[in-house]
Amino acid sequence: MAVALVTGASSGIGAAVAIALADAGWDVMAAGRDEARLEEVADVSDRIATWTGDLTGSADCDELVADTVDEFGGLDCLVNSAGILLRADAAETSDDDWRDTMTINLDVPFYLSRAALPHLIEAEGNIVNISSYWGIQAGERATAYNTSKGALILLTKAMAKDHGREGVRVNVVCPGGVDTPMLAAGADEEEMDTEEFLEMVASFSPNGRIATPEDIAGLIVFVASDAARQVNGAVLTIDGGLTA
Ligand SMILES: NC(=O)c1ccc[n+]([C@@H]2O[C@H](COP(=O)([O-])OP(=O)(O)OC[C@H]3O[C@@H](n4cnc5c(N)ncnc54)[C@H](O)[C@@H]3O)[C@@H](O)[C@H]2O)c1
Repeated sequence: MAVALVTGASSGIGAAVAIALADAGWDVMAAGRDEARLEEVADVSDRIATWTGDLTGSADCDELVADTVDEFGGLDCLVNSAGILLRADAAETSDDDWRDTMTINLDVPFYLSRAALPHLIEAEGNIVNISSYWGIQAGERATAYNTSKGALILLTKAMAKDHGREGVRVNVVCPGGVDTPMLAAGADEEEMDTEEFLEMVASFSPNGRIATPEDIAGLIVFVASDAARQVNGAVLTIDGGLTA
């Protein structure tokens, strides 16, 4: 029996990952901020438990990992999906916006990974971080986001090197456009109709489509599994060829 902890699990990619892992036989702690939406995710499978809270500091992250281990008796995989996207160039980015973006997109994955490590070493488990193709190449008007997602890729590589010999794998998945509330918010930013906006984003990709959250979840279920035992420190793009 394997146990996964998934953040950002009340919506989008995190929700799809929690459900896909449960379908694949994992016990899942689905962590998020919206209790009602988390309950909807948990209703899909009796393998899913929920944890509601805002993740900001290391104490929250230590508590979430401890609660997961208390609930299921161990931890085999951490999926860091919680994140925020701020559309702003450097001149437009306030101190608070910068710090909030770094906190949830970079600090929290680090705090959770550090707290999870002793359990992952014991289980020979793994971490899957979710960065973005904007962590590889900069998107316009997203300075803090680009920076946080680029740093998350190096956090992944650093931990993969340091902890590989302890049996822990650390990988990062970099999606292109994915049809989630985060992407839909872009339509409002651009003052476009949502459907028109999604069509425009799809047209950027060589295969002409936007990913579903389930597309991303499928890759993560594979990376989390023993079938991917030789995959460590990998930056896995899943973007229809956008970064090719
Ligand atoms: N949607 C895309 O096109 C896309 C593309 C590339 C990467 N990503 C990345 O995928 C991940 C998931 O995003 P999504 O598209 O599913 O969007 P989403 O907005 O549906 O999910 C993000 C989740 O993070 C949670 N979150 C934000 N701040 C939090 C905090 N302080 N504490 C706890 N939870 C918090 C939100 O409540 C939300 O449930 C993000 O890291 C995002 O950067 C998304």
